[in-house]
Amino acid sequence: MFMLPQKDSGTPTTSPGSLSTQGLHSNHGDGLEREGSGKPDQKPLKLYGVGDPTAMFSSDSPYLSSRGSIIKWFWDSAEEGYRTYHMDEYEDENPSGIINLGTSENKLCFDLLSRRLSQSDMLRVEPSLLQYPDWRGHLFLREEVARFLSFYCRSPAPLKPENVVVLNGCASLFSALATVLCEVGEAFLIPAPYYGAITQHVYLYGNVRLVCVYLDSEVTGLETRPFQLTVEKLEMALEGANSEGVKVKGLILINPQNPLGDVYSPGELQEYLKFAKRHELHVMVDEVYMLSVFEESVGYHSVLSLERLPDPQRTHVMWATSKDFGMSGLRFGTLYTENQDVATAVSSLCRYHGLSGLVQYQMAQLLRDRDWINQVYLPENHARLKAAHTYVSEELRALGIPFVSRGAGFFIWVDLRKYLPAATFEEEKLLWRRFLDNKVLLSFGQAFECKEPGWFRLVFSDKTHRLRLGMQRVRRVLEGKSQVAEDAPSC
Ligand SMILES: Cc1ncc(COP(=O)(O)O)c(C=O)c1O
Repeated sequence: MFMLPQKDSGTPTTSPGSLSTQGLHSNHGDGLEREGSGKPDQKPLKLYGVGDPTAMFSSDSPYLSSRGSIIKWFWDSAEEGYRTYHMDEYEDENPSGIINLGTSENKLCFDLLSRRLSQSDMLRVEPSLLQYPDWRGHLFLREEVARFLSFYCRSPAPLKPENVVVLNGCASLFSALATVLCEVGEAFLIPAPYYGAITQHVYLYGNVRLVCVYLDSEVTGLETRPFQLTVEKLEMALEGANSEGVKVKGLILINPQNPLGDVYSPGELQEYLKFAKRHELHVMVDEVYMLSVFEESVGYHSVLSLERLPDPQRTHVMWATSKDFGMSGLRFGTLYTENQDVATAVSSLCRYHGLSGLVQYQMAQLLRDRDWINQVYLPENHARLKAAHTYVSEELRALGIPFVSRGAGFFIWVDLRKYLPAATFEEEKLLWRRFLDNKVLLSFGQAFECKEPGWFRLVFSDKTHRLRLGMQRVRRVLEGKSQVAEDAPSC
């Protein structure tokens, strides 16, 4: 048996997705210990953010296994902001409730989606849809996904249905891929700041950890941008992990990136993929925001558009409808991989992460309706995203607040460092709490493993009246005038 260290109970985070990994750096052993294979002499990895969730946690339930207790701890600690929001959501009937600018959801197109999904062609009930499916997903859906990705990813050759696996969202895909690609205790490299929930996605079932490739805001030359990922940084993080005895099995790339909104050029993608190939690393490419690039001047390139993948057997691409179709509650995600061992192993896990036949039918109908997607949904969605983004970025400019945003995704990465009396994560959390006390939920940078205290993610993909009120509350907090009661009449 191993001893579980003390729990740090006061860790606030900000959105269902955003999990603070603060404290995970103090590594008290890896999953191998827990499986009873002896206690390796492992030093804590301070520089590269390798987390061991057991480091922050004490077993407090007599009913749960140690694994169950860790899983419960993630739930208890990760969602304080989100839970607070749900107890006091802003609504017409509750105008002093909390405005959520923390959760990465697109709330701009419910009208278009509900109209399309309510049409009569969306519902089909037939025996094959009510029986056990092919766990990879029905062939009719995998064929549709292959055609959809070929078109929107602009693949040089048609993509193949046999390389497609469908399941219930990108989170499940992270979990499934980590489990089938890594041994317990092995790790993936991930550029940080990153969408923090990936920590639990890869850990809860797979006991896989993350090694941060830390990026910073400093611009070092004419051709560089803040938080830019370079091969040099990848090499350094890999070397650091190796020197600490951590086996790195792969690299996670999010493109467009969350929370930076960064978009990789084809040249950059090639460099990162070649780096991975040199070190025989798998690459999980998360393209869940690929159709949410609303700034036309930003040329987006899916990894599937590359003429040649350096290592196709180790390149695994993920996409889902949660972001690009604003349907995070529907739960549909897809993997594209040429590696049939990986596809089969993930399919085997789809028994636990699969989609109902009726939803598979609905998804196939949606993805095949190119006229609606191209002529109605995408142009309108992009126009609404752009308008909301313009509004928030102008507000930030008026306040003299610097930010990073490239016209992709639902969020702006905002630099509030000048509002911290001291450059610490404690002060960052205090500011976050002041926002929450003033009924606006944001996500703080530490939840994304950002190394510089004072960065916040602000989600703008919401209706105008909520966005305006949310920004008024942000402004009030930053101007030191915190009050909520007066908000209601102004909205
Ligand atoms: C980059 C990224 N990947 C994956 C997910 C999770 O996607 P899903 O809701 O499809 O599980 C999110 C959700 O915020 C995300 O931002």
